[in-house]
Amino acid sequence: MSNYHIKHLEEYFQVYRKSVRNPESFWEEIAEEHFLWRKKWDNVLDWDFSKPEIKWFEGAKLNITENCIDRHLTTRGEKTALLFEPNDPNEAAEHITYRQLHERVCRMANVLKDHGIKKGDRVCIYLPMIPELAISLLACARIGAIHSVVFAGFSSNALASRINDSDCKMVLTSDGSYRGSKTIDLKGIVDRALNDCPSVENVLVVNRINSDIEMKEGRDKWLQPLLDAAYSDCVAEIMDAEDPLFILYTSGSTGKPKGMVHTTGGYMVYTAYTFKNVFQYRENDIYWCTADIGWITGHSYIVYGPLANGATTVMFEGVPSYPDFGRFWDVIEKHKINQFYTAPTAIRALAKQSLEFVEKHDLSSLKVLGSVGEPINEEAWHWYNTNVGKHNSPIVDTWWQTETGGIMITPIPYVTPTTPTYATLPFIGVQPALMDEDGKELKGNKVEGRLCIKFPWPGMARTIWGNHDRYRDTYFSAYKDMYFSGDGALRDAVGYYRITGRVDDVVIVSGHNLGTAPIEDAINEHPAVAESAIVGFPHDVKGNALYGFVILKEIGESRDRDNLRKEINQQITEHIGPIAKLDKIQFVSGLPKTRSAKIMRRILRKIASKDTSNLGDTSTLLNPEVIEEIMENSL
Ligand code: WTA
Repeated sequence: MSNYHIKHLEEYFQVYRKSVRNPESFWEEIAEEHFLWRKKWDNVLDWDFSKPEIKWFEGAKLNITENCIDRHLTTRGEKTALLFEPNDPNEAAEHITYRQLHERVCRMANVLKDHGIKKGDRVCIYLPMIPELAISLLACARIGAIHSVVFAGFSSNALASRINDSDCKMVLTSDGSYRGSKTIDLKGIVDRALNDCPSVENVLVVNRINSDIEMKEGRDKWLQPLLDAAYSDCVAEIMDAEDPLFILYTSGSTGKPKGMVHTTGGYMVYTAYTFKNVFQYRENDIYWCTADIGWITGHSYIVYGPLANGATTVMFEGVPSYPDFGRFWDVIEKHKINQFYTAPTAIRALAKQSLEFVEKHDLSSLKVLGSVGEPINEEAWHWYNTNVGKHNSPIVDTWWQTETGGIMITPIPYVTPTTPTYATLPFIGVQPALMDEDGKELKGNKVEGRLCIKFPWPGMARTIWGNHDRYRDTYFSAYKDMYFSGDGALRDAVGYYRITGRVDDVVIVSGHNLGTAPIEDAINEHPAVAESAIVGFPHDVKGNALYGFVILKEIGESRDRDNLRKEINQQITEHIGPIAKLDKIQFVSGLPKTRSAKIMRRILRKIASKDTSNLGDTSTLLNPEVIEEIMENSL
């Protein structure tokens, strides 16, 4: 019997040792006993981080939707698979059973096929948090198409570049979306994006808000009539374990977003196994992750991980502040949520509101609280633990990334003693290493360095779509034979890990990864801007916010500064989306540069954070005089 469900600390250590000493036999046992394969693998693992090439369960055949849906039909057919909680609390929640999910996924899969989508084709999904979103992912997986979900808060430019990067043949979207008291015109955004996307043949549109939209002849169709007419069963395409399942874009510190490619077999095993243990999921628990499926957290821990375990997974369309700041607590009470997984930025925002919002709700169903996406500060941790968990529900601070596919460093609730701000111990099978800047591994405890992983795990991304060299250069070239995460971390006296934050030019704002280079590119296109540099600075709700240092061309010098600031943020909204807007914009006459003309961001970061007591060595700068001016006028 494999150790599928870990129940006490000794067992964790014992299983961890087993998983590290003999990873192949460990993962083979898990894969064999808990999943449905059409054919078993010839080889459990083949890897070489220098190429990098990583293959798990090579030769195996499966379809992930048979694991997430079909195999549950005999025992859990009438159990709720997806529980949809709409934006408006007065609209009824929708319970979609495993049997209904099967039918809806099959119908959607048949519609995709009827529109020429075949195994290996890319389908872009730009939908709000409605059931059709989860169903679209699964429908693609059913027929072997590769889904590329773009978070429906990205702008038309950002959407177009993602569609073009992977030549998507189809876009699935909706007329619009609800967001609290507002509606958003999603179809309009798609239309603008598609002016520039030659690969897209069809746009299928869900009617969510009943708005009057334009439908382009021959390209756009309403989805519902097609679903109604489609056959309700669809044979699952048999996939290789290493066939791509999806592409998901994440920001890099430079250049355009990276389309991380996840494959089928290993991803399935890893997300399912982590879900079971990190949330101590038991049959009939009701599980809620508040992330959007547009991010990796939603892919792995709203859709694939929970469904592979036959769980009931909640999809929430709304926002934490609508109709008031008690919405999360209201939903927990209403659906008797057992596991609740959210982001520190949401906790901080809610902690600022009156405690009455929490106190008037019965949260006694909760057993596990989760946190993801950014470091959780001590104050937020205690607020969460006291007011939501009532000191009764362990908090799992889960560290992982789009690239890792699943949770990597985390407590196991009721197993690992927790400490605020610590992600604690590596998950089973995960072998972290802390490295110094010279490439030496820091052994032992009480050390701080750059967080790497020494050995493959089944859920890791296999490449960047269309750019394997970039995959190697970004993740596998900083340290030999190691995956480099881009994060810093420390290991304390007892061996617990604490993530200290990004060590590159990615800034995490409200839990969203934002590369500073693409934002600078967007600003620099403004006709009045000559050059700019963006850095992050601490923010009490968002974790980090963005600070822009902007040099104006002469034409900009005479213009009204506040108007310019608005225009610059408008420019960012159009190129990337409102999530990347700058909180502060300072106009400067120059930027501190090294002799090789690189901007010294370290200094700008300190100025933006109002931490100027020790700016470090500035003698090597080309233009040290500019620092004084920047400090004097800082915002
Ligand atoms: C950060 C989200 C501290 C980290 C799953 C990482 C965290 C980036 C934590 C990945 C955590 C995520 N503590 N930092 N528990 N979880 N991060 O790709 O910097 O959207 O590299 O994946 O978020 O963000 P991504």
